[in-house]
Amino acid sequence: MQVGVQRLSFPAILIADTGMELSGKRILLIISGGIAAYKSLDLIRRLRERGAAVRPIMTAAAQEFVTPLAVGALSASHVYLDLFSREDEQDVGHIRLARDNDLVVVAPASADLMAKMAHGLADDLASAVLLATDRPVLIAPAMNPKMWAAPATKRNVETLKGDGIRFIGPMAGEMAESNEAGLGRMAEPLEIVAAIAELLDGAPKPLAGKTAIVTSGPTHEPIDPVRYIANRSSGRQGHAIAAALAKLGADVTLVSGPVTIPDPAGVKTVHVERAEEMLEAVVSRLPADIAVMVAAVADWRVLSSADQKIKKQPGEAPAPLQLAENPDILKTVGHHGKRPRLVVGFAAETQDVEKNGRAKLERKGADMIVANDVSPETGIMGGARNRVKIISAKGVDEWPDLGKDEVAERLAALIASKLK
Ligand code: CTP
Repeated sequence: MQVGVQRLSFPAILIADTGMELSGKRILLIISGGIAAYKSLDLIRRLRERGAAVRPIMTAAAQEFVTPLAVGALSASHVYLDLFSREDEQDVGHIRLARDNDLVVVAPASADLMAKMAHGLADDLASAVLLATDRPVLIAPAMNPKMWAAPATKRNVETLKGDGIRFIGPMAGEMAESNEAGLGRMAEPLEIVAAIAELLDGAPKPLAGKTAIVTSGPTHEPIDPVRYIANRSSGRQGHAIAAALAKLGADVTLVSGPVTIPDPAGVKTVHVERAEEMLEAVVSRLPADIAVMVAAVADWRVLSSADQKIKKQPGEAPAPLQLAENPDILKTVGHHGKRPRLVVGFAAETQDVEKNGRAKLERKGADMIVANDVSPETGIMGGARNRVKIISAKGVDEWPDLGKDEVAERLAALIASKLK
């Protein structure tokens, strides 16, 4: 069977997400039959966003649920369907297909395919590749709870675990195809991505499956097309926090004001200019599990910025700037109907750091405030180091003088421990 998708070997990365997490990794994705196959489409997208190349194999049953055309379009790869395809065998062959990758992922893994794997059957392309591979194999089972609980499946699971096959899920919950609930739902795509990342780099991912929104940098509030109100924020601390959360496995969106530093690796970065745009970018991405609002948002904007450059009028006093208060993004998120489980804010102070930090904790509805002294002599604003106090309802924890990357790592670890 031929699929109408352009033939490529391992596809080039087409989505411009910086995702270093799986950058350059080659994943052979086997999709077997089950309603959960619809989630495999999202899985492909998530993997490619993180820089992985995905080469898909579909069983005959999988094609009853999703089309090879959709799988091919999302993966930008040829989709392998038949063991006895003369063309595919001449091109890569099932033995090369089995080995020419960093990891084999089976999602969804049906009871039937697991049974074949456990018994070493090889009567179609998916099972033959699974028998022939010498790469690590991760499977995401998905089936009716009764099938998962059946003695035969239990035996097969034990056999597969004994053979070194890794499992993600199944999860408990409602089944897509019936009103039944129980153990059998396929893990969510992000959970599978996290398991893949963990398998490939070995580091623990305590924030796997969690989503985070981070704001960073200053905002620019236009006066006219060439002038704006700004502040000295560099975005270093916020960007470092976004990267640190991603390193622990979180799916991070960074909403950045105008900065000169690069987008951090492993993070989706959205660029905005004004406070109102930042608010919209943040709120439209709720719900999320974690919000860390680090941006130095301008408190005021020019009430009506000029469409044309404001010209000096000889002999006349400069036109006064009428200011309006900007929306408070942290406060909006802290009191939102879709409030994240953990809301963290910063407090940039030049005096009474602790007292002002506590007041902000209360006023903005945050769980934690990272307070720092940004008086010019500290060199914190725009600099590479930071000295912070962590203020929460429980009390105050004072951290030593640290690099902004270290503050970010500590904070990400603290966030992970709070969400446990
Ligand atoms: N913040 C925000 N939106 C604003 C102002 C601040 O989201 N319009 C957030 C910052 O990202 C930070 C926290 O609120 O997490 C505190 O910011 P800070 O500038 O210290 O406080 P302000 O609310 O601006 O209060 P003040 O200027 O009175 O210190």
